[in-house]
Amino acid sequence: MDLYAVVGNPIHHSKSPKIHGEFAVQTNEALEYSAIQAPLDGFNETVQSFFKNGGKGLNITVPFKEQAWKLSVELSERARLAGAVNTLYLNDKGEIVGENTDGVGLVRDLTLNHKVELKGKRILILGAGGAVRGVLLPLLEEQPESITIANRTVSKAEQLAELFTGHGVLKACGFTDLNESFDIIINGTSASLQGDLPPLPELIVTGSTVAYDMMYSPETTIFNGWAEKQGAAMRLDGLGMLVEQAAESFFIWRDVRVNTAPVLNAMRTFD
Ligand code: ATR
Repeated sequence: MDLYAVVGNPIHHSKSPKIHGEFAVQTNEALEYSAIQAPLDGFNETVQSFFKNGGKGLNITVPFKEQAWKLSVELSERARLAGAVNTLYLNDKGEIVGENTDGVGLVRDLTLNHKVELKGKRILILGAGGAVRGVLLPLLEEQPESITIANRTVSKAEQLAELFTGHGVLKACGFTDLNESFDIIINGTSASLQGDLPPLPELIVTGSTVAYDMMYSPETTIFNGWAEKQGAAMRLDGLGMLVEQAAESFFIWRDVRVNTAPVLNAMRTFD
């Protein structure tokens, strides 16, 4: 049995063991996937001992994604720019390689699962923290017309736009500066975790706008509830992104593509 795990703190709520368990059954891959709670001051030791004991790959979740990035000896361009990684494995030399599959997961959920085309579209992203930084490059690679980053702290949005200079058309502003509508609006703030909604002008939503909350909860998220009230064409939550980022990690580790649809259905029905 090859060993995999997700590392976080806390970790009991993680859906990753269930998702990867379903993937393993579907593809007949001989692997075991568990959840490890690393001490807040003992992340590096936890990872090192996992790999020393023969572990094959790790997913990394809150609050360790940046530490995992620092620990990685090798990073893809995507992971380097993301500033955080959610997937670790060892290269031929036994060194830790870091990947970030969150952005690919978001793009695949939008384009494949929901048939939302990103090319040539005007995208608005709310938030400028680690979650948003992690998905920007894969979104830009889909060649949208532009990506506007709106954030409570405008300077953070500006820094992010600067960081991705040369990868596409990026704009930065505050929420109340928004004065046009968008094809796709992605909520990447952690405001919803506190039951909060950023102060968004109603005019950013039209009847053809797709709203995507990177957060997931069994009930309609506060952002998606707001988008529905404004008449958005589609309201999507982050469960698809969660399953797709897991599928991308599985692909990196096992070189096998899973069929995510039945797993996504199982996850929805479970809650
Ligand atoms: P994460 O890793 O989830 O992205 P983070 O890096 O702390 O966490 O970033 C949180 C993001 O949510 C930031 O963009 C933050 O805005 P600020 O940069 O102004 O702090 C945003 N955020 C958090 N709570 C918010 C709220 N109540 N209203 C609006 N934005 C909020």
